[in-house]
Amino acid sequence: MSEPSILVIYAHPAPQRSPVNRRLVEEARAVPGVRVQDLYELYPDFDIDGETEHALLAAAHLVVFLHPFRWYGMPSMLKEWMEVVLQPGWAYGKGECALRGKGYWLVTTTGSGPEAYRPGGLHGRPFADFLAPFEQTAALCGMDWIEPLVMHGAARADAAAIDAHAAEFRRRLAGYAGMALAAATPYLGEA
Ligand SMILES: Cc1cc2nc3c(=O)[nH]c(=O)nc-3n(C[C@H](O)[C@H](O)[C@H](O)COP(=O)(O)O)c2cc1C
Repeated sequence: MSEPSILVIYAHPAPQRSPVNRRLVEEARAVPGVRVQDLYELYPDFDIDGETEHALLAAAHLVVFLHPFRWYGMPSMLKEWMEVVLQPGWAYGKGECALRGKGYWLVTTTGSGPEAYRPGGLHGRPFADFLAPFEQTAALCGMDWIEPLVMHGAARADAAAIDAHAAEFRRRLAGYAGMALAAATPYLGEA
């Protein structure tokens, strides 16, 4: 394979204070066929290079969005990335639809535990409700939505929990990379 076929779009506003996502991005870098775009490192002034990002996306079969949950959504850098990169006529609408058929895999962490994501809990509703904009973005772009990998309670996760989660992430990522190498089609379901 000449180009990595899995693109990890990594967005952590404070990676030096990240026990979980920082570990996950290290795992991703160790998997053959995976390319990591660390948005906060590459674009400290938020001046995202749309052409570069388009070229990387075009070469990928699977796009992994790796970031902590922030204010019920994605970090601001990733929102900016979406606005710059997912242009009409390129990503959706009349025109190229360059992302059609590629996998969209959200890998995220929350500070709160699962008990906070329910009616009457701190965040008032199921976590899945907050995923609607992500899922619809994938749908609009014709991408295949893959069941997200979510670690709740990441703020208080101990070393054993982080190890287990990192192992699960790496197992699934390596599985998807293997499927890409074998030129398998859609990234649906478990690796
Ligand atoms: C500005 C900010 C907003 C946050 N918003 C949420 C949120 O909406 N829901 C939640 O459960 N945790 C929220 N958190 C907690 C982070 O998601 C949590 O610290 C992170 O997932 C831990 O991962 P890390 O170890 O890689 O940093 C927020 C944290 C910060 C600093």
